[in-house]
Amino acid sequence: MVARQVVWSEKELPRGRATDLALRRLQVKFTGREVPVWIGPRSREELPVLLGARRDLSHIHLVADSEVHKLHGPSLVRLLEATGKPVSVSMVPSGEASKCAGELFRLWQEMVRAGCNRDSCVVAFGGGVVGDLGGFAAASVFRGIDLVQVPTTLLAMVDASVGGKTAINLPEGKNLVGAFHQPLGVVMDLDYLATLPDRQWISGWAEVIKTAAIRSARLFEGLESRAAGLLGKEPDALAGVIEACCKIKADVVGEDEREAGLRRILNFGHTLAHGIETVAEYAGFLHGEAVAMGMSFAAELGEALGVTRRGAASRLEACLRSYGLPVKATGLRAKDLLEAMEFDKKRGPAGLRWVLLTEIGDTKTVDGVPAEVVRAQLERFLGG
Ligand code: GLY
Repeated sequence: MVARQVVWSEKELPRGRATDLALRRLQVKFTGREVPVWIGPRSREELPVLLGARRDLSHIHLVADSEVHKLHGPSLVRLLEATGKPVSVSMVPSGEASKCAGELFRLWQEMVRAGCNRDSCVVAFGGGVVGDLGGFAAASVFRGIDLVQVPTTLLAMVDASVGGKTAINLPEGKNLVGAFHQPLGVVMDLDYLATLPDRQWISGWAEVIKTAAIRSARLFEGLESRAAGLLGKEPDALAGVIEACCKIKADVVGEDEREAGLRRILNFGHTLAHGIETVAEYAGFLHGEAVAMGMSFAAELGEALGVTRRGAASRLEACLRSYGLPVKATGLRAKDLLEAMEFDKKRGPAGLRWVLLTEIGDTKTVDGVPAEVVRAQLERFLGG
């Protein structure tokens, strides 16, 4: 734990209250590597130290979300320049559509032209799109260079930036091409959440609620009872929730980095969510919105199959609604979603592999759910 006290200003937290918050540091253990994760206001100031500790670092390439860069890019570049190394920048247009082969190809070219080499480090600065795309560029250019994740959205802080998954989408499906590539470190600066657009902010709560629903009934109860304060960015509560989610994710990924078993539980709600995002051509729904609908469907499916305790689905849906998240998919056809889910990579020998709740806080992975049961449940879900 780094003992540094910082103060949130009212300006940084327009709907919160000023308070002292300690910078939290977690150490996430993977095979052969420990990844430090900093959580707190002004934690970006750890970046020169983190990068400075990298021996032979030659060059830093910032891969930034275009909207985030407008607000916070210049000050981040100044911090990176404090390492004394050259800094170059690639901008990625905001939105899921950027997580594609064309953008990846452009990043490779820009990195090579900017003078990157095998001792360079990519700093991915933005939400999950930039983390996944910039992360995959780092994983693949020169057969893999260093990466630091600087997530600026709630969703990327509690899920996408921790655990080493990087990917791009294909028209056939989400995250179908990618690599596991652990970062040197993850720097979650809570100041960035103050400028997050409301829709992105709400969307992030889906991954928070997912994390609690699959692994911690206690965290889930906290989310149920403290929705107003958390949505209002109450700083201590928010930092605590982000830390709790990161710890759960770190535990799961620490045990199963390559998703051979336990890590699959993190995909709760993602089977239908990825279908929704694919059918909507990566526009129309934010990832968290699709995950909220996907979790609601998976909970209802679990109850219909007798796997999920009765009442868990309505409790989950009430919690999602209290954070402003959608629990029903409208304007989508079962046929299109079932087709899209055919390309899902979360499959076992018996077809699609469903992560279902047994109750709030616990899960079971179920193979071989008959296709007609899924179809009937999906038609009910879309019609209801
Ligand atoms: N987002 C799911 C995982 O990291 O495994």
